[in-house]
Amino acid sequence: MIIERAKKGDQADIERLLEQVCKVHADIRPDLFLEGKRKYTAAELADIIMDDGRPIFAARDEDGTFLGYCFTVIEEHNGFNEPPHKTLYIDDLCVDENIRGRHVGRSLYLYVKEWARQNGFYNITLHVWENNEKAKSFYNAMGMKIQLYGMEEVL
Ligand SMILES: CC(C)(COP(=O)(O)OP(=O)(O)OC[C@H]1O[C@@H](n2cnc3c(N)ncnc32)[C@H](O)[C@@H]1OP(=O)(O)O)[C@@H](O)C(=O)NCCC(=O)NCCS
Repeated sequence: MIIERAKKGDQADIERLLEQVCKVHADIRPDLFLEGKRKYTAAELADIIMDDGRPIFAARDEDGTFLGYCFTVIEEHNGFNEPPHKTLYIDDLCVDENIRGRHVGRSLYLYVKEWARQNGFYNITLHVWENNEKAKSFYNAMGMKIQLYGMEEVL
């Protein structure tokens, strides 16, 4: 498996997997997510792929088959009440639905974690939806711990 920064040529594969994630979320929260859509438009995605502040890491097979991605966002924390530090926020992580459970996700996560460590980040954060039990189990298995709870009351 090869993991590296995503390229322009990955756009169609990334869009396909973004739709898979949207379906996972729409199954859990059909009130908040539209099945058949995705998080970013083609134009937004094209910008993100080129943005050094929002690196996307892509996993491919030796034959070039696209296996999965990890969207990240570099956050610089310099608030009045904060020790200055950098956080790598995982904006989206998805493995193609046909090859889940074969440790592509683990390889992507470990690659991104090592990249963050080498680039001076203090921590990695992300949001995961309540009832996305598979993803929660995955992140627990990667060693992540709950940092905060997001609360909601639907009216
Ligand atoms: C979550 C996801 C990225 C995990 O990637 P993956 O390649 O399928 O997972 P891995 O094979 O690397 O699993 C690593 C470990 O995570 C845990 N894990 C993974 N999938 C799991 C599942 N369905 N149920 C329980 N535990 C699971 C296991 O401990 C596993 O280790 P093991 O195989 O030695 O038991 C992938 O399933 C996915 O793309 N899901 C849909 C999109 C999504 O929900 N993304 C997260 C959005 S916040």
